[in-house]
Amino acid sequence: MTDAPLSRRAETIVAVAPFQRLSAFMNGPFRRLANQPDALDFTFGNPHEPPLPAYVDALRENLTPRDDQWFAYKWSEPEAQDAAAASLRRWLDIPFAPEDILMTTGGFSAIALALKLVADPGDEAIFNLPPWFAYEGIVVEAGLVPVKVRLDPAAFDLDLDAIAAAITPRTRVVIVNTPNNPTGRIYPEATLRALAQLLDGASARHGRRIYLLSDEAYNRIVFDGARFQSPIAYYPPTLLAYSYGKTLLAPGQRVGYLALSPDLPERAALRDAAFFLQPSIGFIYPNALLQHALARLEKLSIDIADLQRKRDWMVGALRDMGYRVRSPEGTFYLFPESPIPDDRAFVDRLAERGVLVMPGWLFETPGHFRICLTANDAMIERSLPAFAAAIEEVRRG
Ligand SMILES: Cc1ncc(COP(=O)(O)O)c(C=O)c1O
Repeated sequence: MTDAPLSRRAETIVAVAPFQRLSAFMNGPFRRLANQPDALDFTFGNPHEPPLPAYVDALRENLTPRDDQWFAYKWSEPEAQDAAAASLRRWLDIPFAPEDILMTTGGFSAIALALKLVADPGDEAIFNLPPWFAYEGIVVEAGLVPVKVRLDPAAFDLDLDAIAAAITPRTRVVIVNTPNNPTGRIYPEATLRALAQLLDGASARHGRRIYLLSDEAYNRIVFDGARFQSPIAYYPPTLLAYSYGKTLLAPGQRVGYLALSPDLPERAALRDAAFFLQPSIGFIYPNALLQHALARLEKLSIDIADLQRKRDWMVGALRDMGYRVRSPEGTFYLFPESPIPDDRAFVDRLAERGVLVMPGWLFETPGHFRICLTANDAMIERSLPAFAAAIEEVRRG
């Protein structure tokens, strides 16, 4: 017997490679710079401007109790479920039922809930590289085995052959993130249809359903008038995870949901299980205030046209300097190529000039770096000479 303070579960999570890398980054360039008042922080998707006034109003309005149960325990509140289902019906033209919207404390817990609802310890969960940094931790914490498949490097599209090759009899979930963090790619309808066919075939062959977990945290942040296509339209065994943290740019106010398709035969069983699972995981329901306010919050969004303007500004400026960068179709990230193969070294060079971005190393995709467009105009303006000087230094060798 040992008296180690940490459980094996905690030790396993601490050792998850993307968390270790994130910790090294946070304790390295990030810590050195982030506290300096003139540092230009383009790392996390955090606001750099005051919140939407209508957002603050919606919270303020719902702060005043209307009955004695106003701040009582709240599960998935019918008013919040109604508002979310109505908006999903509008957005996706799929007749979602309010009771099939499981309200959660944002996207993190919607994803954790989904995995725990359908997958058993030892099952495999496939996700794509570059990934959102938290997938591996959430997958491992659920007792599942992460299986990573690289996106097609040319266009950052799903590599369906590689996904097919990665599927085994133990595969239970495939996680797809569109619009994608960090690539900004939105997967086209034809790809989603082919993915659905692939998963149907593999489920039938192995005699066990493979679920799709569609992480759609950015599904309302799309540019150029594009219409977002959800995988759930093509594959009913899809669990749709959404967070309001991106659309409202208020990620510290934890609210989101897991939505079940009306065409999913086992949805009542999943719903009933969630009723016990969500409290058991730590009562992962949004707090009362956010659920009361949800009908108003549903109508709000950050200014997407303004975000698109910032995208065009930065993409244009970076390309003029000689960076190779795709123009993202959605999300608030750019994922340029690093002008030198060692993306960490390049990120350090930018950090020396006061600009903080994330190396592709954090996303298991060296040779790139991520810039977050939630920066304000003044930050962008001030960062451009630093981006120019860093690539110029590479050219001079
Ligand atoms: C792809 C992706 N999914 C899910 C989330 C989780 O969102 P939230 O923090 O609002 O739970 C994020 C947040 O960065 C994300 O980028």
